[in-house]
Amino acid sequence: MKTQNLLVCLLLFFCATATSQTTIQLGATLSASNPNKTWSSPNNSFYIGFSQVGFSSSYTLTINYNGGVPIWTAGNATTTVDSKGSFQFLSSGNLRLLNGSGAIVWDSNTARLGVTTASLDDFGNLVLKNGTFFVWSSFDNPTDTIVPNQTFTVNQVLRSGSYSFRFLSTGNLTLRWNDNIVYWNKGLNSSADANLTSPALGVQPNGILTIFDVAFTSGSYIVAYSNDYAEGSTRLRFLRLEKDGNFRMYSTDIGSGTATMVWSALTDQCEIFGYCGNLGICSYNDLSSSLSPTCGCPSENFEPVDVNDSRQGCKRKVEIESCVGSATMLVLDNVKFLTYLPETVSQVFFVGISACRLNCLSQSSCIASTSLSDGTGLCYLKNQGFISGYQNPVLPSTSYVKICGPARPNPPPGVQIAGKSKSSRLRVWVVLVVVVITLLGLIAVEGGLWWWCCRNSPKFVSLSAQYALLEYASVSSETNRKKFSVWACEEFEKGDVNAILDQRLTHQDLDLDQVTRAIQVSFWCIQEQPSQRPTMGKVVQMLEGISEIERPPAPKTITGGSFGGSNVSVSSNVSTLSTFEVLAPALSSSSSYQTIGISPLASARNIERTSSLLHSDSN
Ligand SMILES: *[C@@H]1O[C@H](CO)[C@@H](O)[C@H](O)[C@H]1NC(C)=O
Ligand SMILES: *[C@@H]1O[C@H](CO)[C@@H](O)[C@H](O)[C@H]1NC(C)=O
Ligand SMILES: *[C@@H]1O[C@H](CO)[C@@H](O)[C@H](O)[C@H]1NC(C)=O
Ligand SMILES: *[C@@H]1O[C@H](CO)[C@@H](O)[C@H](O)[C@H]1NC(C)=O
Ligand SMILES: *[C@@H]1O[C@H](CO)[C@@H](O)[C@H](O)[C@H]1NC(C)=O
Ligand SMILES: *[C@@H]1O[C@H](CO)[C@@H](O)[C@H](O)[C@H]1NC(C)=O
Ligand SMILES: *[C@@H]1O[C@H](CO)[C@@H](O)[C@H](O)[C@H]1NC(C)=O
Ligand SMILES: *[C@@H]1O[C@H](CO)[C@@H](O)[C@H](O)[C@H]1NC(C)=O
Ligand SMILES: *[C@@H]1O[C@H](CO)[C@@H](O)[C@H](O)[C@H]1NC(C)=O
Ligand SMILES: *[C@@H]1O[C@H](CO)[C@@H](O)[C@H](O)[C@H]1NC(C)=O
Repeated sequence: MKTQNLLVCLLLFFCATATSQTTIQLGATLSASNPNKTWSSPNNSFYIGFSQVGFSSSYTLTINYNGGVPIWTAGNATTTVDSKGSFQFLSSGNLRLLNGSGAIVWDSNTARLGVTTASLDDFGNLVLKNGTFFVWSSFDNPTDTIVPNQTFTVNQVLRSGSYSFRFLSTGNLTLRWNDNIVYWNKGLNSSADANLTSPALGVQPNGILTIFDVAFTSGSYIVAYSNDYAEGSTRLRFLRLEKDGNFRMYSTDIGSGTATMVWSALTDQCEIFGYCGNLGICSYNDLSSSLSPTCGCPSENFEPVDVNDSRQGCKRKVEIESCVGSATMLVLDNVKFLTYLPETVSQVFFVGISACRLNCLSQSSCIASTSLSDGTGLCYLKNQGFISGYQNPVLPSTSYVKICGPARPNPPPGVQIAGKSKSSRLRVWVVLVVVVITLLGLIAVEGGLWWWCCRNSPKFVSLSAQYALLEYASVSSETNRKKFSVWACEEFEKGDVNAILDQRLTHQDLDLDQVTRAIQVSFWCIQEQPSQRPTMGKVVQMLEGISEIERPPAPKTITGGSFGGSNVSVSSNVSTLSTFEVLAPALSSSSSYQTIGISPLASARNIERTSSLLHSDSN
């Protein structure tokens, strides 16, 4: 009998200590200086505690899943305290986060509500009760995360930086920037036409994002399946509004401390308004190894607001107020400036691409415009305000930004790569060497073949003449002193086409018109700025006379250009390449690129990249 009593007593004692760990006593305190002390839920799936932000000296107070993945934060994601901060359950019934100086950083505002207990349950909910009633809970005051068993209703909001997530009474899920611009709005499937009474949004433990309402015949409506739905019974799924403005579902295994993304609202991160800050341009740099978007400035007329954080956006080096009346429009190909509700109402016009540019230039309130060029005939005129750009080669749009002074385009992406990694620089060198060797090899083989086949043919003379359209091997003593292209340009300006030609050709029947075209095209091809060089497609069009040839800018001498004296060997490589382009007549140039197995367009781009790399190397 007595032993039985003792056992009961012992059991009661153990049960009492177990519950006392989960129920937080009035006056209890956690301190940032001892992050190992936490308050756990009864079966240890969740705990409350301080955690260090990176390697900084700031701490956040969070509810975490076993392992350390946070699901709720006191305050918001930017609310932190120093190492002397504390989290207190005051006798007044308030939960309070204080920093080292004693200043209140966050407060549950539950004083005078008769709160008697605080507890953390096995679903991760921190609850304050006045005896039996719920007075406050972390599930009803979410920060940026929703976990299973938590219902999210129409009057709640998730926030992260400038972004917010709301659930509308119509069943729509919305993402907004600054509570204003709606950049994502997903409604119910039209076949699920229903007038909802009291809809609630939740993530089921098996990883299915669901809307619950009595109006649905089955009681629920499936918004999305995670890619691991119904797998892993000890996995926790949760939804989070991230600092980058995307709304994602994650999956985490108990104790792992890491979470895997299993669904995201927007698959294209660059569609998120303001992701790259004001005047920032979001793009996917196909040269970088990761698929994450990069943020840049529209041109060198702009500079980043914070050099250490490209997401903070850009500013003009010269404000447009300082050049009223003489402003110009910077042209940005394949760029659109994002416009969503409510902006779409006031900013959309039906005008063509030139009017889209000129109307903005002439209106003093307009700072940028986008011609969609997607068949809709629409143009957005952006007035003073936030400008969020998106660049993608598949976008048909052309955009314009008002600037002071001449446009200074960004260097092509290859330049950044050169500064980034040695391996890619090496790769480019390998490509360059292979291209040069292949070209030389081809010339040698073709030359050999001709010599073998045609040495006795009378046609040989005219065929070889094609390949010696411009004299280069035997440059006269006068031209020796200047770079060949500079000399050739001067002669061409004087109208002396014959002087540039191989002397053997001047006695033959030549179509001077065609020769002039070929020379003009070659001047375009040896432009120092890679962005000024035409694509191979354009070259063919110009040579065939389909496309008109503008007057090319004069080439620069090597020493007068941007090349440094110590890098002559590098620069001379460039001119070897360029000179070959000058030499190669119309068809042979494109066909020789094709023979090395690259499409004409790609090869033009590659060459652009290689030579611009060389430029950056020499700087
Ligand atoms: C917390 O625990 C870890 C190991 O579990 C230990 O290395 C660390 O010193 C502890 N920190 C404090 C402040 O007690
Ligand atoms: C505590 O917070 C107050 C106001 O929020 C701030 O002025 C003070 O610098 C903070 N003190 C510390 C030590 O972080
Ligand atoms: C607890 O709160 C509820 C609702 O706020 C109230 O009706 C009830 O009287 C309160 N109970 C106590 C013991 O304060
Ligand atoms: C803890 O309790 C919750 C709710 O009953 C349950 O879903 C979860 O699997 C439990 N976790 C562990 C580790 O026992
Ligand atoms: C949360 O869990 C409790 C206990 O298992 C259950 O009664 C309740 O229906 C759940 N709520 C939701 C929204 O899943
Ligand atoms: C986070 O909280 C602080 C103070 O509580 C507030 O100043 C700040 O605006 C909040 N940030 C967001 C994104 O809500
Ligand atoms: C709900 O979303 C749909 C698109 O899915 C949209 O057409 C509709 O206007 C939205 N409704 C509201 C009230 O935002
Ligand atoms: C709409 O919902 C119905 C039933 O829920 C489903 O069969 C259909 O495929 C859905 N349509 C779309 C476009 O999601
Ligand atoms: C929803 O309400 C509108 C008007 O209140 C009604 O016309 C419509 O038929 C209702 N739809 C359903 C599915 O009940
Ligand atoms: C950027 O970071 C460097 C080194 O981390 C620092 O020296 C510099 O002050 C930072 N610049 C800005 C604008 O924060």
